[in-house]
Order: sequence, then structure tokens, then C-alpha cells
Amino acid sequence: MHIGILTGGGDAPGLNAVIRGVTIRALKGGHRVTGFLRGWKGAVEGTSVSLDEETVRDIHIEGGTILLSSRTNPFNIENGLERIRETLENASIDCLMAVGGEDTLGVAQKLAAEGLTVIGVPKTIDNDLSATDYTFGFDTAINLVMSALDKLHTTARSHERVMVVEIMGRHAGWMALHGGMAGGAHIILLPEEEFDTDEVCALLEKRYAEGHRYAIVAVAEGATDPKLARHIMHSAATDAFGHVQLGTGIGVGEVLKNEIADRTDLETRHVVLGHVQRGGSPTAFDRVLGTRLGVKAVEMAEAGESGMMAALRGTEVVAVDLAEAVGTLKTVPHEQYETAKLFFG
Ligand code: F6P
Repeated sequence: MHIGILTGGGDAPGLNAVIRGVTIRALKGGHRVTGFLRGWKGAVEGTSVSLDEETVRDIHIEGGTILLSSRTNPFNIENGLERIRETLENASIDCLMAVGGEDTLGVAQKLAAEGLTVIGVPKTIDNDLSATDYTFGFDTAINLVMSALDKLHTTARSHERVMVVEIMGRHAGWMALHGGMAGGAHIILLPEEEFDTDEVCALLEKRYAEGHRYAIVAVAEGATDPKLARHIMHSAATDAFGHVQLGTGIGVGEVLKNEIADRTDLETRHVVLGHVQRGGSPTAFDRVLGTRLGVKAVEMAEAGESGMMAALRGTEVVAVDLAEAVGTLKTVPHEQYETAKLFFG
């Protein structure tokens, strides 16, 4: 069998572990593997490299993706579908593996519906994909957030300041929630739960009055106080899948910092963690998860399971329907936020 693989959307630590997992398992099964470059762009344009033991040697210890990534949406490109079909036919690809988040897998699902043989592998630091318990990249990212908060505690305490920390997560607040809980944030704000800046200020003032004269506020980039929304100045640009590009203008972190400074006497600073959250070497958890998903994807290809995705369910890696993964985003349930709130203030 000839297997194709591509990595699309925002990169995530663990992608190289998947590429290595797919390649080694495929070679051991007597198959060959071609990697398409820059996500769906490579499948449309036919740009590829062949993958062997040497190309993937030890790459699981590195972040990013050796296949490069882009947010290309083939359905926004003239004859995108036909061009992908042509690429796959010319290269005699029997099965294409698409490693990505909601957008990349949404395309994979559409292609499978068009009769192409496609298997999905879930990826996103945001952990917001349904049908899988965790996505690789998330663990590495929240460890980075935790370390950043750990460091911010000491400087915030020394200067008796409020530090507002903006964390990635446009539609789901998993990173702010888990990074914030692990890093001891005193307030956590998520896209799933609208907040009220006056309540945030009151909580901070109470904390200072009780003698704890510093605070960390962890805010997901998509969190909103409806009364403040007009101050948030994201670029008008959207990506190929129509998502607003957060982090390209004045984000919620800076707006909230300004409001706290205006409404209270508390000295306040803000930090945007930004793309460092996506970079660097994956944690052991993400390396192992990526490897297991890659191996499973080849087993699924051998079993002829098109339109399916390898997923983590409990401790098992299983095949699930791609439709289950791309239907709705997995957001933070209210009860989990309530648990985090027990530690606010
Ligand atoms: O990978 C998902 C994500 O990290 C979001 O949390 C974030 O808003 C977005 O990617 C940033 O994407 P870009 O790399 O296009 O700036």
C-alpha cells in the first residue's frame, strides 16, 4: 500500500511523533509513505517528499512538523478537490492520512464523502476536538503555561502586581483552565463563560484586602466581557476557514489589564504568551500519544477504514467516525469551571 500523510492547521508538539509512527509502522507492514508538504496545499499542488527510516529517525523528540503546515482550505481553491484527486492518482496513493484539528479533519471528512480514502489523526494544542479524550500538543502547551505562571508568581509577588496572562484558545478554554489550575491562577476566564470586569476587580481587591498582595489572572484569548468587546481590536483578517485571527491586535489580555488599572488602584501588567505555547519539544505524554495514533492510523488503513479517525478513549487508541470529531467543538463543561472557581481569589 502507498500511504500519503499531511499535517495541517496550527502546528502542535507531537506531530513529528505521528509522522514517525506512521512511517515506521507502515514500512514494517511492507508499505511505502509519501509526505505532502504544507498541509492541504501540498495535496493540491502535488508537492511531496518520500519518507523512510532515515527521514524520521528520532524526529519524535522535536516540536513542529517536518512536513510543514498551513491553513490552506482546498475548498476555497478553484478545482481544489479535483486537484487533490489528481495528485493522489498521479502518486498512486491508496490512503491519505490527514493530521490536524477541526478544519483539517473537516476537509478530510468531505474528501472521504467524495469517495477518497482518507483517515484522520486528531491534533491541536487547544484540546477542543470532540471524539477523543485528549489531543497531543495540549499537554506540552499547558506545561508551558504552567511554567510561565510559576515564574509570574514570583515577580508579581515582589511588585505586588496583578499580572493578566493571555492564553491561546479562541473558542475553548482548555488551555487557560488546565494551565491556570496547574499554575495557581487566582482567576481564570474562559470563552465558554462570559465574565464581568467589575466582578473580576472586586475579587482582586478582596484578595489584596485579605493580605495577599498580588494576583495572576489567566484569560483565554476568546474570553469576553460583553461590555468590553468593543475595546478588543483584533485584525479584521480571517484565516482560510473563516476564523478571526486573534493575537494580531489588542487582545483581551491588554484590554482587561487597562480596565483593572482604571477601575482599581492595583498596579497591573499583561503578558501574551502567544506562539511560544505551540513551540518546543513535546512532553513524554504527547510523544507517546502521537506515536500510538500514527501506528493506529496505519492499522486502520490496512483494515480499509476510510472516513475514520484514530482517537484516544480512556487508555485505548480506537477508530471513531470522523463525523463525530468535526461536528461540534469540545468546550469546557460548566462543572469543570465550577471546580476551578473553588480556588479563585
Ligand atoms: O492551534 C490553535 C491555535 O493555537 C489557537 O489557539 C490560536 O488562536 C491560533 O492557533 C493561532 O493561529 P495562528 O498560528 O494562525 O496565529
